[in-house]
Amino acid sequence: MIVRDSVRTYLDATRPQPDVLLAEMEAHGARDRVPILDPHSGALLHVVARAMGARRIVEVGTAIGVSTLHLARALPDDGELISFELDRERHAAALSYLTRARLRARLDLRLQDAHEGLPQVEGPVDLVFLDGIATQYDAMLEQVVPLLRPGGVLVVDNVLVDDPIANERAGVARGEERSAAGLDLNARLLEHPELVTTLVPVGEGLAVAARR
Ligand SMILES: C[S@@+](CC[C@H](N)C(=O)[O-])C[C@H]1O[C@@H](n2cnc3c(N)ncnc32)[C@H](O)[C@@H]1O
Repeated sequence: MIVRDSVRTYLDATRPQPDVLLAEMEAHGARDRVPILDPHSGALLHVVARAMGARRIVEVGTAIGVSTLHLARALPDDGELISFELDRERHAAALSYLTRARLRARLDLRLQDAHEGLPQVEGPVDLVFLDGIATQYDAMLEQVVPLLRPGGVLVVDNVLVDDPIANERAGVARGEERSAAGLDLNARLLEHPELVTTLVPVGEGLAVAARR
């Protein structure tokens, strides 16, 4: 939790009841310990995509499709969202949920490592959402920033808390402090010559950046 308990309680109380499908996906995430997107971060993504009139979106880390649902619901009928996921089971679950949400026509869900898939994506793209593994973002940044149109938006999740998966791989214990790798990434986002970036204390922390 990166905001006080009382703020979180208030935010949770103001959240509209999720629809049946989203509630089922959230229960699936909790049951199987799939690290799904915080609902308030999902709401922010939806508002940003809707406000900017996004038509083309790229996502890294579909998991079971929670963030994909928030984003795809902001797209027009002829919009397009390309989303990458490495895990076969999660990809299949996302496919099933998003078909039930009647969003399949605007989705291109790829069971593929984003490092390999991103070079095949043609720009311009309105919005990119990075929600894979934090240690990979450094390299991915250089793949996705050139895809964004001027004024396009990059959103990166988990920028204000330690990423347990990344820490485990790096042999770092989970702690209160942002790991050195995470701080480096934030500095790169904030200082990137092509981006104007702000760090938003919602969920696990979102970096929201506009391409110059
Ligand atoms: C934090 S979860 C994504 C959560 C999802 N965006 C949501 O809102 O529910 C991260 C996912 O990224 C996937 N992933 C990690 N590295 C990846 C890569 N290089 N390419 C594609 N998927 C990747 C993992 O398998 C995992 O399911």
